[in-house]
Amino acid sequence: MSLLGTPLLPTSKKIMFLGAGELGKEVLIALQRLGVETIAVDRYDNAPGHQVAHHARTISMSDPQQLRQLIEQEQPTLIVPEIEAIATQVLEELEAEGKVQVIPTARAARLTMDREGIRRLAAETLGVATSPYQFCDSLEQLQAAIDGGIGYPCVVKPLMSSSGKGQSKISTPADVEKAWNYAMEGGRVSQARVIVEGFIDFDFEITLLTVRARNAQGETQTHFCEAIGHKQVDGDYVESWQPQAMSSKALEQAQHIAKVVTDNLGGLGLFGVELFVKGDQVWFSEVSPRPHDTGMVTMITQWQSEFELHARAILGLPVDTRLKSPGASAVIYGGVQAQGVDFLQVEQALSIPQTDIRLFGKPESFEKRRMGVALAYDANVDNARTTAKKAANLVQVVKRD
Ligand SMILES: Nc1ncnc2c1ncn2[C@@H]1O[C@H](COP(=O)(O)OP(=O)(O)OP(=O)(O)O)[C@@H](O)[C@H]1O
Ligand SMILES: [Mg+2]
Repeated sequence: MSLLGTPLLPTSKKIMFLGAGELGKEVLIALQRLGVETIAVDRYDNAPGHQVAHHARTISMSDPQQLRQLIEQEQPTLIVPEIEAIATQVLEELEAEGKVQVIPTARAARLTMDREGIRRLAAETLGVATSPYQFCDSLEQLQAAIDGGIGYPCVVKPLMSSSGKGQSKISTPADVEKAWNYAMEGGRVSQARVIVEGFIDFDFEITLLTVRARNAQGETQTHFCEAIGHKQVDGDYVESWQPQAMSSKALEQAQHIAKVVTDNLGGLGLFGVELFVKGDQVWFSEVSPRPHDTGMVTMITQWQSEFELHARAILGLPVDTRLKSPGASAVIYGGVQAQGVDFLQVEQALSIPQTDIRLFGKPESFEKRRMGVALAYDANVDNARTTAKKAANLVQVVKRD
């Protein structure tokens, strides 16, 4: 059944976004341009995606009852998860009942929701190279895992968390207890279980945006974007650029891993495959079955951004992943705690040639909240990085008087 029809009529078909942050907002805009009726759902009012969808709803998406009730009431044809913290068992039930189709699949949403599902699938079922790892339910188990082979340095992460929350590096035995306690505070759900991973001393890390889309014959094909390099500070992305230079062997290996993992997850849509690279060696880290924050750079580097690619792919339309120009992105952080901030010096930022910015319209700013992103293109990727950072630094987020 085609989703391309006429919005807001009784016969229309709807796409529901579970999570309506800055990434969802851009996919929603892409769908609006194709005349698709959209419903944006988030846990707070006036989220970025709420502001550009036909319908805005606020619920707790990790509450199975609230989620099921909303889906049954709205009856979307497609459900697009934008965040991990969703009651995915409800999605699996409704998909099994034939009531909705989940992007890319309800199973993929469940497996990538916590670190255990996706890590065991990649390393144990698919035999993909990853860091050495173990799952631990107590401080004693964590210490035993480190002593038993993971060794130092290593990284401890809560099973369910993102943007580096609750994650820390352990360099010596003295750090172990602190890391355990930090993981217990930073997890999204109160669960005394962590993953400990051996530290990979990579040269650089990449996001390989991988798209499963239909061609004109209706067959599903896999397409890759150019590799995106990125810099993380405390587990949160601050800068990204495309393309990241790498050996042809490493690129081949990266594409192979991305293909194996996304083939297994199945469905249609764009995936952000996170990989570590050292020389010709590549390790799988994790995957988002949706656009990736580091992929915001594609809004200036590709003919079709990762958001347009996702929108097209989920609609069953063909995609074009070609690069338009090398470029870079740099995050604009809140820097202040305030409701309803103002943005200053945007004129100066945009006076720099070959730049652009996005301001996400979040109702509240926190010091470490991502409020916008600066973009730059340049034939030389290093120049683009310098320019994007310069533009991002010019923008001032201020409290209203
Ligand atoms: N085993 C490891 N060895 C070396 N560095 C690591 C390892 N695991 C994580 N990191 C570093 O920490 C960053 C964040 O890790 P990871 O992607 O697992 O966490 P996350 O909280 O899911 O982050 P996000 O949601 O922002 O992708 C990685 O991008 C990498 O820079
Ligand atoms: Mg990550």
